[in-house]
Amino acid sequence: MKTIEWKKNCVVLIDQTLLPHRTKKVVCKSVEDVARAIEQMKIRGAPALAVAGGMGLALAAVRSKARSRSELLRVLKTAARRLERTRPTAVNLFVGIRRVLKAAQRCETVREMREAAIEEAIRIAEEDIAINRKIGEHGAKVIPRGATVLTHCNAGALATAGYGTALGVIRAAHEKGKNIRVIATETRPLLQGARLTAWELKREGIPVRVIVDSAVGFMMAQKEIDVVVVGADRIARNGDTVNKIGTYNIAVLAHRHRVPFYVAAPLSTVDFSISSGTRIPIEFRDSQEIERIGGTRVLPRGVDAINPAFDVTPAELIMGIITERGVVKPSQLKKLKSQAPNL
Ligand code: MRU
Repeated sequence: MKTIEWKKNCVVLIDQTLLPHRTKKVVCKSVEDVARAIEQMKIRGAPALAVAGGMGLALAAVRSKARSRSELLRVLKTAARRLERTRPTAVNLFVGIRRVLKAAQRCETVREMREAAIEEAIRIAEEDIAINRKIGEHGAKVIPRGATVLTHCNAGALATAGYGTALGVIRAAHEKGKNIRVIATETRPLLQGARLTAWELKREGIPVRVIVDSAVGFMMAQKEIDVVVVGADRIARNGDTVNKIGTYNIAVLAHRHRVPFYVAAPLSTVDFSISSGTRIPIEFRDSQEIERIGGTRVLPRGVDAINPAFDVTPAELIMGIITERGVVKPSQLKKLKSQAPNL
């Protein structure tokens, strides 16, 4: 299963809004198609957004009729701004766009620029899969044999170019025969846990059950959860972690019940320019996502909803950050700065 790929000068991606009932691919032929697919959550998840941003920019390069280097650079910068406006929180989106822009800027001719943009975008996807396998390898070591692992949202193959970050850790532990079981939170309002995580794990025969987000405290009190592993959209240099709304609740509960709480993410998710989590921009999405379930309004007329898509988990609640370079305490993240790709 390829979440997103470059095919015949188009970007082909799985429409994640239709899962788990339909597996339909969408063909993006322009930067605007990619930008809308991101806004509409057809593609989502931090590392997948790096690939989408990079490939979106490569599409702009290929489709442009620009005949000079400076003309094509102007086109690319406009396209980059359009892609950057789609979603504010996951830093990977900005990293992916910048990488492709820089690759094109290094070239002399228009033809070389187009080729370099495509190559770099494909490289981002290929590297991501290799990085996730490394995250899985390191992370599997902190998962006890026979453990029940709680995860939130979807940090799986669908949220990356393949294999996943938090689900990469779960996959690796399963591959090592650790006999684990997974509890996935539903993840209101868009149900990434119920629709996507459960779908991914079921396909691979990894035992998974779904709970509503508010059942986490009860399940921990019942000693039904041994360890938590979640992904991340942006990590500040002090280790504060922004991830899907509800992650902070889970971390507080894990602390209360002494359940180890891990974040799995590539170093490209660490924004070393940001000192703490409160400085990370949080996306607020359309309140319609909360007001309606399956097209039916569930709120009384005249009542509004508030829809923050992410929250901040303070570093002190995080037992370890699982990266491609090993598992580190949040306070040790700074030591990995030289190995992280910079903007
Ligand atoms: O709003 P989404 O679905 O893009 O949010 C995704 C998450 O919060 C994931 O946990 C995060 O991006 C990590 S993906 C490996």
